[in-house]
Parts: sequence; structure tokens; C-alpha cells
Amino acid sequence: MGHIIQIEDLYFRYKDGTVALRGLSLFIGEGKKVALLGPNGAGKSTFLLHLNAIHLPQRGRVLVAGREISRTTERWARSRVGMVFQDPDDQLFSTTVKEDVAFGPRNLGLSPGEVEERVEEALAAVGMQGYDGRAPYHLSYGQKKRVAMAGVLAMKPDIIVMDEPMAFLDPAGQETVRAILDRLHREGKTLVVATHDVDFAASWAEDIIIVKGGRVLAQGGPEILLEPGLIREAGLRLPLVAQVFLGLLPAGRKLPLDVPEAREIVRSLVDKG
Ligand SMILES: Nc1ncnc2c1ncn2[C@@H]1O[C@H](COP(=O)(O)OP(=O)(O)OP(=O)(O)O)[C@@H](O)[C@H]1O
Ligand SMILES: [Mg+2]
Repeated sequence: MGHIIQIEDLYFRYKDGTVALRGLSLFIGEGKKVALLGPNGAGKSTFLLHLNAIHLPQRGRVLVAGREISRTTERWARSRVGMVFQDPDDQLFSTTVKEDVAFGPRNLGLSPGEVEERVEEALAAVGMQGYDGRAPYHLSYGQKKRVAMAGVLAMKPDIIVMDEPMAFLDPAGQETVRAILDRLHREGKTLVVATHDVDFAASWAEDIIIVKGGRVLAQGGPEILLEPGLIREAGLRLPLVAQVFLGLLPAGRKLPLDVPEAREIVRSLVDKG
């Protein structure tokens, strides 16, 4: 499988002079589950906003499915890349939940019946069925986040980008998002999720990209989240399950990244004892 997203030496400076990206380069493989980590202000959101042409490169290139993102490919980019913003207030603008979720599919030129079907399906997927007639601005933050997600799901894009999807969701809501992400992965979608949740990243992602100071600090498998020097530099921490086993494992035995791996270690220790 090829690289569906390719970023080459991306540079971006906001109008007030803040340089948010200073030579960001990375690749994302098709169908991958990718977590983007890094401290506040690292440039994660600024980078993600380039993937569907909300920001255009000031220097460097953004390629999606081999095609360069520019003013002329902007509409195409938005049909390929669905983006759930960090702040749902930046995303929701209609007077009802239903209208909001219907906006994207209607723009794709689908028939009213198909639009209706997509809206119902997407609201059910995020656990917001029955909220169709409500005003988005009267919903709780977590509910808004779910509606924003439904709006993206309803468009069925091949690349789905979520900026902090778990933030402000209750534990059941976080499980729902995880289940949605798993389903989308099984459907072959490419998923890029910016998050501060190291435990989620360690247990979910196939690829980890760590951004700092507008550049990629490291990219690799989830095991890079076990490298002490790197996580210190990136302002991260070890996944909790790994912390439990720190200093307790025989030399050469890898710390666990998620609960199943941790259980496996405990089981082998119990069997031995
Ligand atoms: N609209 C804006 N105008 C000016 N500067 C901005 C704007 N948005 C972001 N920045 C700055 O750009 C840099 C990168 O911000 P960005 O939001 O991309 O970081 P982030 O990695 O997403 O952080 P967080 O983890 O807090 O979401 C920061 O220095 C930030 O202050
Ligand atoms: Mg951000």
C-alpha cells in the first residue's frame, strides 16, 4: 500500500507572525491508524488544517492521493478528507443538528432520500439519534463534538482526520469513538487522530507521529512511546500500563503498550510462580 498523504517541508506562518510549521515532512500509509502527538502549540492542528485545504502551504507541498493541494484542488480535497475540528464551535453552524449533519452529504449532490439516510446513520453511530431537531449551540460540548463527528461520517470520506476526538467526551462516549474508529479502519479508511491521550495512542495507533516546534520529532510504531529520551523531549509520558511494569521486568522484555499486552505479562509471571 502506498502513501496516501505526503507532506514535504511544510512551512506556515500565521498573520500575526507566529510560525506554526517550520519544515514539517511526513508520510502516511493508506488505511493506517495514525496518532499525532506533541505538546500544546506544536503545530498539530495547523498541520491537520492543511489536509483539507483550510490552510494552503506557504512553502513546501501537501499531497493527498498523489495530488497536490492548492486553491484549484481545494474542493476535491474536501471530498476526500473529512475533518473533525478540535473545537466543535468552529464546525457547527446550522440551526438544527439535522441540518448540520445534512450539509456535507447535500453538497455531494446526493438525493434527499440518501441525505436523510446518511444523517440518521451518522447520528446513530455517534449515539445522538433523536437530537435531529435540537439547536447545536444549545448542546453540551461533548454532544457538539459528537454531532461534528456525525457530519464528517455522513460524507463517507476515505481519509478521516480528527483533532482531539476524545477530549470532553465521557468514558462511554470515548468508547463509542473508539468503536467508530475501529469500524472505519475495517472499512479501509485512513485515520489521522491528534491526541494528548498517550494511553489511547499506545493502544490504538499503528503509526505514531510526534510533532514539536512545527517539525516532526519522531515517527514510528507505537513502541516509540516507550523511549524515555524521546517522551521526555516531547513532553509526553509513558503509557500507564507501561509505568506499572517499569523496573519489574527481566532484561530485554518489552514494556506493555496496552491492557492485553500487560495481561499477557502478568499471566506468564503467574504461570512461572
Ligand atoms: N489563528 C492563529 N493565529 C496566530 N497564531 C496561531 C493561530 N492558531 C495557532 N497559532 C499558533 O501556532 C502554533 C501552533 O498551534 P497549533 O494550534 O497548530 O498547535 P497544536 O499542536 O494543535 O496545539 P494543541 O495541542 O494545544 O492543540 C502555536 O504557537 C499557536 O499559538
Ligand atoms: Mg491543536
